[in-house]
Parts: sequence; C-alpha cells; structure tokens
Amino acid sequence: GSIEGGCPVPHDGGVRSLLGRTNKDWWPDMLATEILTPNGPSNPLGADFDYAEAFNTIDYKALKADLTALMTDSQPWWPADYGHYGPFFIRMAWHAAGTYRTADGRGGANSGQQRFAPLDSWPDNGNLDKARRLLWPIKQKYGTAISWADLFILAGNVAIESMGGPTFGFGGGRADVFEPERDIYWGSEDKWVNEGVQTRIDPEHGFEQIEGPLAAIQMGLIYVNPEGPQGNPHNDEGMARDMKETFRRMAMNDEETVALTAGGHTFGKAHGNGDASTLGAAPSGGDITAMGFGWVSNQDHGGIGEHTITSGIEGAWTNTPFEWSENYFRLLLDYDYELVQSPAGANQWQPIDQKEEDMAPAAWDPSIKVPTMMTTADMQLKRDPEYRRISEKFRNDPKAFADAFARAWFKLTHRDMGPKTRYLGPEVPAEDLIWQDPVPAGTMPSDALVSEVKQKIADSGLTVAQLVKTAWASASTYRKTDYRGGANGARIALAPQKDWEVNEPAELKKVLDTLDGLRGDMSLADAIVLGGVVGLEQAGAGKVPFTGGRGDATQDQTDVESFDWLEPEADAFRNYLGKKKLAVKTEEMMLDRASLLGLSVPEMTALIGGLRVLGANHGDSGHGHFTEQSGKLTNDYFVNLLDMTNVWKATDDSQQDFVATDRKDGGEKWKATRADLIFGSNSELRAVAEVYAQKGGEEKLKADFVKAWTKVMDADRFDLTMAKYHK
Ligand code: HEM
Repeated sequence: GSIEGGCPVPHDGGVRSLLGRTNKDWWPDMLATEILTPNGPSNPLGADFDYAEAFNTIDYKALKADLTALMTDSQPWWPADYGHYGPFFIRMAWHAAGTYRTADGRGGANSGQQRFAPLDSWPDNGNLDKARRLLWPIKQKYGTAISWADLFILAGNVAIESMGGPTFGFGGGRADVFEPERDIYWGSEDKWVNEGVQTRIDPEHGFEQIEGPLAAIQMGLIYVNPEGPQGNPHNDEGMARDMKETFRRMAMNDEETVALTAGGHTFGKAHGNGDASTLGAAPSGGDITAMGFGWVSNQDHGGIGEHTITSGIEGAWTNTPFEWSENYFRLLLDYDYELVQSPAGANQWQPIDQKEEDMAPAAWDPSIKVPTMMTTADMQLKRDPEYRRISEKFRNDPKAFADAFARAWFKLTHRDMGPKTRYLGPEVPAEDLIWQDPVPAGTMPSDALVSEVKQKIADSGLTVAQLVKTAWASASTYRKTDYRGGANGARIALAPQKDWEVNEPAELKKVLDTLDGLRGDMSLADAIVLGGVVGLEQAGAGKVPFTGGRGDATQDQTDVESFDWLEPEADAFRNYLGKKKLAVKTEEMMLDRASLLGLSVPEMTALIGGLRVLGANHGDSGHGHFTEQSGKLTNDYFVNLLDMTNVWKATDDSQQDFVATDRKDGGEKWKATRADLIFGSNSELRAVAEVYAQKGGEEKLKADFVKAWTKVMDADRFDLTMAKYHK
C-alpha cells in the first residue's frame, strides 16, 4: 500500500536504495567538503592520534569541576532556565545517545555525530546547538584529551549529579569523527516530522511495518512524536505502542523506558512560549552569519529566555525542575489532566485544579508560578496498563526508581561502546552488565599447545570448508558500529547463534563438538579460529597468523534477545540469502555487512573470491563456486567470473539466481547469485576483480585474503588492544 503524499519507493517490490535520503537531498547547497576527502575521512588529528592515550592524561576531577561550574554560569546569549543548565545538558546527552539502533548498531553517542548534519538540524535536536556551544570553552581548554562525544555524555552525568540525581558511572573512550556518517540509512521518506504527516508506519499494516533498521517514528525525531502519533493527542494506544516499539529498537525494555523518561522529565522544561513561525532555518540551512546556529528568532527579544521555542510544548513536568525528586510520578498519578494548547499551539496536558504549591516557578522569574504539564507521551506512563504498573511501583519505591534510572541512563549512554575493556577513566563501574556482552578473560595458549591442537585439528577429518565456514560464522558477527559480536566468547556455540539458519545448525554442531573434543586447555573460541587457520593453510594460503587468548562466554552471560538482532538476513560471504523479503538488493546487503565488518572494497572482494573457492557457501550450494579444485585458495573465481565465454541469465523473475552457459556450445557451466555477478557487472568492483584475475593475481589474492581474514578474526580483540590503557 502506498502512503498518502506519494512514497518514492514501491512498497510491494520491497526495493529501496541502501542509503535512502542523504544530506545532499535535504541541503542541496551544503558545501561539498567530500571532494577533498575522496580517499577516506577528514580527521585533522591524523591516523596516529590515539584518543585513549590522550584521555588518560586528563585531570578528570578538574574537568568535572569545570563542568559543574558551567551548569550555573548563565550566559546572556542563552540564559539558563532556573539559573541552571543541567536539564538542557541532560537532553543534549540523551539525544546524543538516543539515535542508537540495535538492529545495525549505528547511531548513538560514540562518535559525536550530533555536531553534524542531519542530526544537528533534526527538529528534535532543536536548540541543542546552543548547548554544545555552551560547552565549547571547556572543550577548548582540554583539547584533544576530551572528545566531543565523551564531553556530551559526561556533561549529562555532571548535570544529573549537580541536581542531586543518581548516576551509575562514566566510561570515556568515544573518539570523535570529523564528518557526518556517510554509511547510515536515515529512511527514504520525503517529509520530516515538522513537514507533514507521512511516517515510516505503513497505515495498511499498522505498527509492525516500521521500517528496519530505523528506530524513530519519523525523520527528525529521536523516538516518537511527543504530541501523539502524527500529532494526534487522543490516540493513547498508538502513542504507547510507538513508545514501546521505538524504545525496544533501542534495546530498552518497559521498565527502563519508564525510569528514563520519568527520571529525565523530573528535570527541566519544554519550550514553546511564542510563535514558531518566527524562527529561522535549522543549523545546516542557516545563514552564514549565524555561525552554525539555527532556529534564530526574527523578533526583537531574540527568542531567548522566556521567549524560547524548541518543541513548541511549554512548561515543566514538576514543581522542582532543578533538583532530583519523586514529584514526577506524584504529579502524574495524583492529578487528572486536561488537554490544552501551548502558546506555540502544541497539544499538551495540564493538571486540573492544580494546587499552587504543586505549580512550577517560571524559568525566568521564580516569583511567578505556572502550571506544570505532561506530554501525550508522558501520559502513557499512567494510561498504558503495563507502564502504569511500573510507574506505581517506582512511586512507592523511590530507591528502586533512582537505581533503575541510574542504570538505564548508564546503559543508554554506554551501550554502543562495546566490551567494558573499551571504557576509560576513574568512574567505570566494577559490576558487569549483561548488555555489555561480558566475556571471561582468556589465557594465552603456549606455542606447544597451539601446535598440538593444530595437529589434532588437521587429523580430525574436518574439511577445509567446514573449518573455514565455522571460523567465519564465529567471527563475522562483529560490527564496528557498536563493537558487538565477534569470535571472542565463542557465542557461536550458544543460543541464539548456534540455531541461526545462516550457520547450518546441524553441521555446525558436528564441527563444534569435534573441536571441543580435541582442544584440551585451549578455549573453544581460540580453537574455532585456529581451525580456520588450519583450513586455510591446508588450502595453500601459506602461513596464516594466529593470536590466541580468547575466552569462552556462558549462556548466562548471553542476552539471547539482544543477540537475536545480530542474526544476518543475508551473508554474501557465505552466499546466503534468508527467506525474509529484504528491503534492499542482495548486493547492497553485501556492502552493508562489509561496512559493519569495517572492510574496504578490496578486502571484501578478496574475501568473497577466496571463500567461494574454499567451499564456504551456505548449504554447500554451488553458486559462485567457479573452480575445479574446490578447497584450494586459487584465483579461479575471478578468472572464471570475468571469462567472456560465459553468457549469464537469470533463472527466474526474482533475479536472484543465475546460470552461465558456454557462448559456443550452450552447455551449462556455472551458477551464481547477485553477490557474485556484481563483481563483474559493477565497474568499480570489476576493476578490483581484474587485479585478482590477471597475471600475479593468485599470489596477491592469497596475501590479501589472509590479511583480510585475520582482520575479521581479530576485529574484537579489545582485550589485547586496550590492555595498555588499563595499567
Ligand atoms: C525535554 C519529549 C524521553 C530528558 C523534552 C521536551 C520534549 C520531550 C517534547 C521539550 C523540549 C523543549 O521544548 O525544550 C520526550 C519524549 C520522550 C522523552 C517524547 C520519550 C518518550 C526523555 C528521556 C530523557 C529526557 C529518556 C532523559 C533520560 C529530557 C530533559 C528535558 C526534556 C532533561 C528538559 C530539557 C530542558 O529543560 O531544556 N522531552 N522526552 N526525555 N527531556 Fe524528554
């Protein structure tokens, strides 16, 4: 079903582009700095800059003291509500972290993306440009020792602490990037939240159809529309459903959602005291003299202080918006509410017959009392039965509320940082948390043990294909976006991974049982990777490096639901395509996987070409198996793919399966998928394939394959790379 307003992509065909819309679509006039960086990101700190080392030099106490002082240092160009910037910085930190989505691990706080388009200009990030600018003197003072990404989150923590709120800890280590992420899908809709009612929800299918991997309801929002679905304040069911689904896609359960929202809205206020049409463009479309500020008011009062317009909603949630309290649940649950409009015309809910002592001070003059408010989203914490149960529990047990808020805030702000060993600084909590995917420390196997296990694997009867496929299955869950997955922990042997269709569960079990039976004192995680080494060496790859020391996780240390998100719907490296109808083309899924693994185009190409001839295909399908010497690492794949005697044809309309016949005699020669033919049909991939098919290509392929393979096997070894920072 197509959506009113003309959806640019056919919904039934299920095909859209991998990147959807990009900054260039939204801001055609944006300066094309990327012409200067065709070969990689523009990072002024240089490739040798080591952020962890820089962070460890910081005077952490002094930095926190400076941040605490900043909270109450009101600036005339953006005066602090109640004389305290704390709530403003909490919102900034929450929105920095809240773009995270668990489906692909993209978004989140870990690279400081809020500084760049489109995030700097999302309506939901309104006026956070001012919050970041308030932080500049501190960023400037500490220089490279604190990244913007870390500073956003630390400022949020200090804000909570300086208003008496509970925190659970802070881990530093988020290195900045210096340009927008270009590999992220933001959706393909042509209207943002402030431009109309088109959303990512297909009205025909209801909520289930929110598009993967997206997590917010509409472009420009962190999670949901606060006024209600598509701005309708009367659709309680839809509002609660939107909240539950979007928070779930950010890896938050109902209890965490209630704790976070109530805890956050214990502080601060919404801003909508005026006419929103008096505001200028968002930062990325702003006038050059605004120097990066957006939403500039054309009124004489400058749109600051009392006249601030951000969401358009107006008022505080509690009577004490500058300190931690239990007033949020008290006001929410004890009062009845009526729908009113803010001065900017937004829908919001106001307590009926509010007692004066329950009213809030005006942000700009504490002697004035104003009614508090709730958004339509807040109202669900009372109206939705499951949320209400949790709200009442927290109301009756303030300690549990404080603990749940502190823990959920810590998770919100750290869940895209990966293993705990990546956290830096004096405030890293000792407790292991399940969402950190803990892996017990391993021990480095002796050379003697490695040789012994290698020999046993070689004698075990496992084939090259079995060994290579299993090692690949184990390591290739890694994603650089939130540092999850990977071979460490041997979670391939645990639920849910052991049962994923892509892993061929029955076959996998045989291999794992065999490796388990012969590994002696070596961890299973190491034995799996060592199996890959043995397989490759048998295939003639030459000497393949091996770095042991991985640990084995237990089922108890594995959050099954959160690992479900890592299941590949397609894996071009095993020439696997799941049954689920995909929104993008197979070859785009290939690019996406390669991107999550942190691979370059040549690395991806070498791996695919090598894996095909080694026999690593899912279900041993013959697709792309362009060789007569299966199990040998040759360049046959590329030679045959580029061979002009082949004529390729799709086997059916789905255009997923292809056969090659001999141009001369018509005899059937090969079969392939889109993830094979793209290396011949796309000019850039073909150019790389030619390098491996030409004279000298086989030796080059062996060397490049082993390098890329080892990179994937070791991608998650933060236990090794981070050790030196924890001395
Ligand atoms: C402010 C909506 C969750 C912390 C706001 C504002 C809206 C809003 C509309 C007013 C912005 C303005 O006009 O200045 C929502 C919705 C949520 C949600 C719909 C989820 C369903 C959270 C969470 C936190 C949080 C999880 C933090 C843990 C804050 C704070 C402010 C705020 C501290 C006040 C900012 C200030 O005083 O300048 N929120 N929010 N919110 N939000 Fe949320």
